[in-house]
Amino acid sequence: MKIIEDKKFKDLTTFRIGGKIKYYVEVKSEGEIREMIRFAKTNNLPIFIVGDGSDFLASDRKYEGLVIKYTGDGLKFEVQDSEVFVTAGAGLNWDKLVEETVKRNLQGLECLSGVPGTAGAAPIQNMGAYGQEVADTFYKLEAYDIQNEEHKTFTKEDCKFGYRESVFKDKENWQKYLIISVTFKLSKDGKPNTSYESLKNSVGEGATLQEVRKAVLKTRKEKLEDPKEVGNAGSFFKNPVIDVDEKVRIEKEFADAKIFPFKNMYKVSAAWMIERAGWKGKSEDGVAVSPKHALILINKSGYASAEDVYKLSEMIIKDVSEKFGVKLEREVQLINF
Ligand code: EPU
Repeated sequence: MKIIEDKKFKDLTTFRIGGKIKYYVEVKSEGEIREMIRFAKTNNLPIFIVGDGSDFLASDRKYEGLVIKYTGDGLKFEVQDSEVFVTAGAGLNWDKLVEETVKRNLQGLECLSGVPGTAGAAPIQNMGAYGQEVADTFYKLEAYDIQNEEHKTFTKEDCKFGYRESVFKDKENWQKYLIISVTFKLSKDGKPNTSYESLKNSVGEGATLQEVRKAVLKTRKEKLEDPKEVGNAGSFFKNPVIDVDEKVRIEKEFADAKIFPFKNMYKVSAAWMIERAGWKGKSEDGVAVSPKHALILINKSGYASAEDVYKLSEMIIKDVSEKFGVKLEREVQLINF
């Protein structure tokens, strides 16, 4: 375990943006976690936990605290009748986890193929794509409670999952728990999930899990930005949840509105509004709205600052609010702003 003093958020995030960090450390056991939490408390430092840095935007200024990355990446399978409990170390690459489960013919995570990030970060935002979300198969997670310095288990109920939401995103819990491992309950003979519109077209009836995984990876490559090619943090905004009155109002004005049922409400496509407002592909300083998908902001120049991204996001929020009467919310977390 080595405490590093010259790391930058730029080196730790898929946006490739963000300022210096006072102390950075990688830990791989609960003992090391304890030790570093003691270190932070003794030195009166705030703690920020990172995974693969794929869902936040860190400011350009120096972070005067300790950034911890947990790298434990074990993978364990426990069979119980037709169900299999899969436990992944929080540091395991998310797609590696999906790949291993699909390889073993375990159903439940196939549509989440190719999502950047770690297994430990997935429950925090109840990650979702192509009709599946973490909450569907989540069983429990093990975490370390930073404040009380004790081990804690969270059941699915404890996590209070919502659309890109969980208990871990609540203000009073944010950065209070370091997730150590996550357990999913997958089914051995489950049918793949192909209900999502843009998947239906690329996989036929009776597709295997491998085929669904392949189709998702292909669709993602075509429709989304790959952080290996250009800095980004996936969807920058959430799809706003609206009621029926708002739905009717928007559809009256825009015959082409993309609005989908969501629980007993509706979700209006943020990508559609941003595109319809003329932002798709537009650049502003080194930042751009992706020409592939209007929900993604990209570090086009490779040198964009957090301030530039923030400014562009504010312009989009204002414009969408004026044109559609809907308030966009960021899906990406702002850190050290
Ligand atoms: N659309 C546009 N313009 C665009 C892109 C999309 O009008 O530039 C329209 C599409 O035609 C479609 C609708 O918007 O009718 C929805 O598009 P899509 O299926 O791409 O999904 P999304 O709602 O925009 C969500 C997730 C993505 C996830 C995709 C696929 C959120 C905030 N985003 O996007 O998640 O990959 O569904 O399931 O819910 C992420 O969270 O980082 C992320 C990439």
